[in-house]
This record gives sequence, C-alpha cells and structure tokens, in this order.
Amino acid sequence: MSLTTPLSQKFGLRMPILAGGLMWLADAEYVAACAHAGIMGFVTAASFPDPADLRAEIAKAHRLCGGKPFGVNVSMLPKLVPGEQTADIFKLIAQTGVDVVETSGRNPEEYMAQLKAQGTFVIHKVPSVRFAMKAQSIGVDMVAIVGAECGGHPGLDLIGTMVNNALALERLDIPFVIGGGIGHGAQIAAAIAMGASGVVMGTRLLVAEELNAHHGYKQALVDASERDTVLTMQSVRNTIRTLKNDTTTLVAQMEAENPEIGFEGLRPHVAGVIGRKAYETGDVSKGMLSAGHALGLTDRIEPMADIVTRLEMQADVAALRLRGASDAHS
Ligand SMILES: Cc1cc2nc3c(=O)[nH]c(=O)nc-3n(C[C@H](O)[C@H](O)[C@H](O)COP(=O)(O)O)c2cc1C
Repeated sequence: MSLTTPLSQKFGLRMPILAGGLMWLADAEYVAACAHAGIMGFVTAASFPDPADLRAEIAKAHRLCGGKPFGVNVSMLPKLVPGEQTADIFKLIAQTGVDVVETSGRNPEEYMAQLKAQGTFVIHKVPSVRFAMKAQSIGVDMVAIVGAECGGHPGLDLIGTMVNNALALERLDIPFVIGGGIGHGAQIAAAIAMGASGVVMGTRLLVAEELNAHHGYKQALVDASERDTVLTMQSVRNTIRTLKNDTTTLVAQMEAENPEIGFEGLRPHVAGVIGRKAYETGDVSKGMLSAGHALGLTDRIEPMADIVTRLEMQADVAALRLRGASDAHS
C-alpha cells in the first residue's frame, strides 16, 4: 500500500512529498537524492546568484536526476533575488528545461503571465490560508501552506499547521500541500485525510546523507529536540525559526533591548554567510540556521531513500489506523 494523490500521480512520485527550497543546501545532489528516493526537490536559485552558476547547477541536476522530476525554488525576498532579476531567472528556468517552480517570499502576480506563457507549473508557498486564497486568485497552480512550526520563515500570523490544513480544505478550490513541522509519515497520512495533495518538508530531510553539509551540523540536528528552535527577527517583520544557538540568544536580546534596531543593526549577526559557514564547518554555535519543530523527529543521519521508506511505512500504518485497525502501531 502506498499513498497516491493527484500530486504523486502528476509527477510520478513514490510519496506525495515536496522537499522545499533550502538556502545554500538544496543543490543538484540534494534534488537528485530526492528524485531517486521518489519525492521532488527544488534547487534553490538564490544560492546561485550568478545566472551562469544556476544554469550549470540545473544542468547537473538534469544529469543526476536521470529524467526524474525536480523543480527550482525562487525565493522572491528582495534581499535574496533582486526584483529586476526575477523575470530573467524564470526565463532561465524555462530555457533549461525545468517546468515546475516553488515561489516564496512575496506574491508572484507580476510574473504570472510570463510563467503561464512559458508553461511553468507554479507552486506558491505561503504561511497561512489568507495568502493562499490570494495566490489562488492570481492563478497559481498549487499552493504550499507552511504553518508556525516550520523551519525558516513562518510569516507573521503564526497559524499552526493543523489549522491551516483544515482552513485550506474549507476555503481553497485549487490543490494544496501542507507543511510546517511534518516529520512523520502519520502526519502525511493525516494531511491527505484533511484534503491535502501532499506535504512540503524541510527540517526532517536535513539529516539526509546526501545533503552537502558537515557531519557535525547533521549530528547537531539529530541531537536537538523539538524544543531547540527559537523565533527571532519579529522586530523587523521577518520572523524566522532557527536552531537555538549563541546567535539567536544575542539577536533576541538585541531585539528586546531595542525594538527599533532595524535590519541593518542585526545584519552583522544574521547575514547568510555566517550560516553558510556553519554548514561547511559543523560549528552550529553561530548563524541563523533555519530549523523547525520536526527536529524532534530527525533521529539519525541516513540516506534520503531510507528516510522516505520510513515515512512511507509510517504513513501506511496510519492509513490502516484510519480504517479501524486499532492494533496498528508505529
Ligand atoms: C535550512 C532551511 C533553509 C530554507 N531555505 C528556504 C529558501 O531558501 N526558500 C524557501 O522558500 N524556503 C526555505 N526553507 C523552507 C522550506 O522550503 C520548507 O518550506 C520548510 O522547511 C517546511 O517546514 P519544516 O522545516 O517544518 O519541514 C528553508 C528551510 C530550512 C529548514
């Protein structure tokens, strides 16, 4: 038995799981690991600011995926991808033979005509259902709604994943996937039972062997629990959930002492390059290292295919439970 949804059927996936964009981490090797494990990953465009590098990474992903699907994440935060470049990036994505994008950060409305014309399937990621309804109104193909539990940016509303899921079922007409704190197959079965076409995951997959990051970083995620994340940067309306460390303690203190500090005041501590170094060295004491409550479920470093196999088995057991098999445990 396996979970089949319109999402898994459309992209030929073993499990209806999207591995969302990961700044500095979701590269060709990561999406290939996803593809061969039967889920779909997204090369993160903002990690390759030089278009030639992005083009080369996509070509590499095509090679490594061997015909299995992958997409490109375009995080449209102005700081990551300057607005003027975004249209060119979408064009590059189509030219390089990728026909699915995960957009995030802000509304893709101004690019929808271009994306439709070039035949790109648009999955727009939002933190709550009110933004999903807006995305539906501008014609995106699917929305990914990530709740407060997520690693990275949970938005300002901080609505939990279960509530997002139920509201999406009630209010949306287009297909949606649900995310934020998903790390167990039972949650995937629950999301599908609640009308989702699948899930989007980040944190749970960071301990995949194939992820290009230092072993010490992954071990720190294994050792961490669901209680080891913290929300900061609320003062600059850019709330982020990251692994608790020296940087988050300092940033929280700076924001508490001076709510007017502004992004420039925080920049020396929150700059992405610091986090990138942690991925390279395994020293997780510094940097804003996005991670969510699913840290409670990152129990070992193992190949992506083994993670997906376990999620699949857990989802199957959950589906049995829904059918009244009360002795189904996992
Ligand atoms: C380390 C890390 C980096 C991320 N970077 C990005 C990014 O660059 N763009 C983006 O749209 N989402 C990014 N995300 C969010 C994920 O794509 C996904 O939506 C989120 O992790 C789902 O919640 P979960 O972590 O609880 O599974 C990141 C998440 C993590 C954990």
